Amino acid sequence: MIQLIRGFKDILPGEVELWQHIEKTAAGLFEQFGFQEIRLPIMEHTELFARSIGQDTDIVEKEMYTFPDRKGALVTLRPEATASVVRSYIQHKMYATDPVQKLYTIGPMFRRERPQKGRYRQFYQINAEVFGIDSPLIDAQLIFMLSALFTRLSILDTSVHINSLGCPACRPDFKKALSLFLADVKEKLCPDCIRRHGQNPLRVLDCKVPSCRESIVGAPSLGDFLCDHCRRHFATVTRSLEGLDVPFVIDGKLVRGLDYYSRTTFEVRTEALGAQNAVAGGGRYDGLVKALGGPDIPGIGFAIGFDRLTEVTGLKGKDFVKKPDVFVAALGEKSMALALEWVCALGLEGLVVEMGAGEKSLKSQMKRADRLGARHVLIVGEKELAEKTAILRNMATKVQSALPMDHIVKNVIENINSAHP
Ligand code: HAM
Repeated sequence: MIQLIRGFKDILPGEVELWQHIEKTAAGLFEQFGFQEIRLPIMEHTELFARSIGQDTDIVEKEMYTFPDRKGALVTLRPEATASVVRSYIQHKMYATDPVQKLYTIGPMFRRERPQKGRYRQFYQINAEVFGIDSPLIDAQLIFMLSALFTRLSILDTSVHINSLGCPACRPDFKKALSLFLADVKEKLCPDCIRRHGQNPLRVLDCKVPSCRESIVGAPSLGDFLCDHCRRHFATVTRSLEGLDVPFVIDGKLVRGLDYYSRTTFEVRTEALGAQNAVAGGGRYDGLVKALGGPDIPGIGFAIGFDRLTEVTGLKGKDFVKKPDVFVAALGEKSMALALEWVCALGLEGLVVEMGAGEKSLKSQMKRADRLGARHVLIVGEKELAEKTAILRNMATKVQSALPMDHIVKNVIENINSAHP
């Protein structure tokens, strides 16, 4: 039998209802905060990711699904969505009508990492991106919105970690200091980090190799190198978060695994996930729109690991599975023809409907109705045909009413509504 690809997964009925619930909750909340949905392709020119995420990152160096298309052009299954959102913002000149755009997108991403719990090769993200706002107040608002989503999804044991990565004015000084520090511990670094140390020392700070993690313990902290502008920006973010009652910890080592960040960066972590403890991450990317060929417009956003969300929320997919309002149980050819008509008409009226699937007896149909959790069963057999009625049974109270077949749809709806006004 052909199995699915390692690191990929099916989301089955019974689970998918939880995904739908999370999607609806996120979309509803984001729209309240002025976001609009954008849907983007899952494949882009490889260069888009190499130039935005950065050549020396784990993602670009080791994890992308990149291959030549049939004409030889290199294409990549997107490892993240921010680069594509930025590309689209520039390509469609969204800034021409209003530089301020708030966009969200939900969909699959692809990274060829080593699969384990919470880490997949096809995984899903919920992204929110804001363009055109320099003010630190938007940084705080985004983090607030993210925390509010976790609360709405009953995910309570999370912590927000934030840092500032500085800007092109102050980061070079930090890089220099870090480089000097790393030169002293060079022999303990992994081969990748030895190479990165020269080109992009910040990347050493997010290397996952244990010996590298140990070596950077006493490394200089970004916070000590921020210019006045970045320092003020960060102070307003933290002050605003305090004002909004969003708890956070400042984490001077948080550099995030992508090159495009500047100033505010953040991550939401939870203890419930073991090693893969980040449920969301984001930050400012003020230089990215320009670097990808657009005007000099700032950006900030985050992505939530959708798979990880479903693993940490106490909510269960089965609690969102829709149960039939009415199950029509019919015996005999004539009754079954009526059942089909009624089910179709009741469905159009907005009820969740189901009917017998060819079971031989009324008893087996009742059993199935019960298993599906049907609220009512509408029964029609020879006797009911003769009397031109159908029996509506309330499965909770066991009360049965004989309803005239004339205007049966109206009769059923009235009966149900009077039982549950
Ligand atoms: P990221 O930190 O690479 O950031 O990913 C965001 C989240 O996606 C992670 O915190 C994690 O929950 C989830 N995630 C990442 N890789 C995997 C995986 N292999 N399996 C399951 N979940 C995973 C970004 O992607 C940035 N684009 C975020 C951003 C948006 N920054 C600004 N705007």
